[in-house]
Amino acid sequence: MLYSDKVMDHFANPRNVGEIEDADGIGEVGNAKCGDIMKMYIKVDGGVITDVKFKTFGCGAAVATSSIATEMIKGKTIDDALKVTNKAVVEALEGLPPQKLHCSVLAEQAMKSALSDYYRRQGIDPVPIVGEIGDCEDCH
Ligand code: FES
Repeated sequence: MLYSDKVMDHFANPRNVGEIEDADGIGEVGNAKCGDIMKMYIKVDGGVITDVKFKTFGCGAAVATSSIATEMIKGKTIDDALKVTNKAVVEALEGLPPQKLHCSVLAEQAMKSALSDYYRRQGIDPVPIVGEIGDCEDCH
């Protein structure tokens, strides 16, 4: 399987790994088929995501997509962060093998799940929709 240099870089040196103890939103998503789990923590100030951290127990592509996803939403407004799709994550990583595309879906859902949690804590309704996770038959 061929990974881009960018994927290898984010897998070998993932950015923003860890957790935020006093997070304003925490998202956790998992793919039932491959068993990979992604947890994302956000800090929000004045509608802007000031800090993001993640923990991913999963494949290399899941680590790389969560790493770059945290870079993509840090410093963004919530509205702009909600527009970051798994497609944008894949483009930022200069592509993923087809059988690893679902890992990027997990990253998008982890972000949305953290933002949903933030909305919930603020009493804002409706929360962003967390969609279906892609099929994971070709995992590992
Ligand atoms: Fe990467 Fe399933 S999330 S193998």
